Amino acid sequence: EKDKELIRGSWESLGKNKVPHGIIMFTRLFELDPALLNLFSYSANCSITSDCLSSPEFLEHVTKVMLVIDAAVSHLDDLHSLEDFLLNLGRKHQAVGVSTQSFAVVGESLLYMLQCSLGANYTAPLRQAWLNLYSVVVAAMTRGWSK
Ligand code: HEM
Repeated sequence: EKDKELIRGSWESLGKNKVPHGIIMFTRLFELDPALLNLFSYSANCSITSDCLSSPEFLEHVTKVMLVIDAAVSHLDDLHSLEDFLLNLGRKHQAVGVSTQSFAVVGESLLYMLQCSLGANYTAPLRQAWLNLYSVVVAAMTRGWSK
């Protein structure tokens, strides 16, 4: 319960518009693993990462990612209700060439964004609470990978 409060409180404190935070997250992600950029078919339209991240298609994906996190935060009491959605989302990511190993660096980027955005409110228990939620989401998405 303490974990849920930490997650809800911190997510709310980021404000209504989550897109700028998503941009911080994906800027970090492409910094840590630039090859992920190439999985977006529309990445051909931009030569440098900062161009990409301000293009409409990338902003749309960032917005979608933030909406999925938002859904997870809203369903902390019944995360299993998102199982089918997340499994399908995993399937779509396998189809575009994402590997499940990339979720580790996505998680790192999420924590990086939280650290940047929350400042002194980014504490060890908060970090752990987010890691726990993230691992549930990743586990559900990973079920969408066929071997
Ligand atoms: C769709 C790539 C991580 C949520 C897509 C698409 C690509 C992609 C290429 C299809 C084109 C598009 O809709 O823009 C990636 C890569 C990721 C990543 C390379 C990191 C390794 C995530 C994460 C989430 C997410 C962490 C949410 C937790 C979505 C959603 C869609 C999508 C909701 C739309 C699916 C649909 O069309 O129904 N992603 N993605 N993505 N992605 Fe990601």
